[in-house]
Amino acid sequence: MTARIIDGKALAEQVRGEIATRAAALAARGEQPCLAVLLIGADPASAVYVRNKVAGCEKAGIRSLRFDYSADVAPDVVMAKLAELNADPAVHGILVQLPLPPQFDEAAVLEAISVEKDVDGFHAENVGRLSQNQEAFIPCTPHGVMKMLESTGVPLAGAEAVVIGRSNIVGKPMAMLLTNAGATVTVCHSKTRDLAFHTRRADILVAAVGKPRFVTGAMIKPGAVVIDVGINRLTDGPDAGKLCGDVDFDSAAQVAGAITPVPGGVGPMTITMLLENTVISAERAARRSGR
Ligand code: GUN
Repeated sequence: MTARIIDGKALAEQVRGEIATRAAALAARGEQPCLAVLLIGADPASAVYVRNKVAGCEKAGIRSLRFDYSADVAPDVVMAKLAELNADPAVHGILVQLPLPPQFDEAAVLEAISVEKDVDGFHAENVGRLSQNQEAFIPCTPHGVMKMLESTGVPLAGAEAVVIGRSNIVGKPMAMLLTNAGATVTVCHSKTRDLAFHTRRADILVAAVGKPRFVTGAMIKPGAVVIDVGINRLTDGPDAGKLCGDVDFDSAAQVAGAITPVPGGVGPMTITMLLENTVISAERAARRSGR
């Protein structure tokens, strides 16, 4: 079998077109959507992500504000900026790029962002609301994955879903979303015994491990939908310097029914969902102020 490719880039372009239309309608009503992005330190991967987020905003007609801090900034300085942005009615979304330098208490920073502006969906209240299947800002990567799964038409209710990875950013919210959609969900991680036993039972397999080409074709159930959240830069071998996912694409594509590529899979959808959350927040603000 050769898997169908789930084209995240094409899906992202289609959704971003709809987002740009909504952003333009809001701007015409005097409520231009605006996202504030805070980058602390000089982590090269974070810098690339932030640049792509800001560029995505510009293309969709969303205003962006970017605040850069050195790695040794005092947490109070960042907390004061968050308070200022929370109080600014022209700002609809606030995002602090993770990871943070060691002097920061990550949970305290995430909870200092107003729940209404938490477009990353990382605030404990949004996490709690998602776990209760209530309306919430949904973390962007797993939300993008759900949109991609929906695009395949694969039934989620009753499906066996396996998520590899238990991070707060991807694995845990992914498991909650799949559970809310009626899948039977198993969360695997570095301590899981006999990982392949679990993955081979999965109708839907989501890999978010951060290890290049970790999931091979031998670990996949024939016909499964495989979603690769990983973005890794290969450091040696014939493909050194190239990007690859957590899935060994060549062997997996021989077994899976559908698979996301890296690049061009989950990545473009992640930023798309951030833009959508920002527009949703602006739409709510416009409703509140009667615009
Ligand atoms: N670091 C890695 N992924 C993310 C994300 O989706 N949002 C934020 N704020 N930081 C991240």
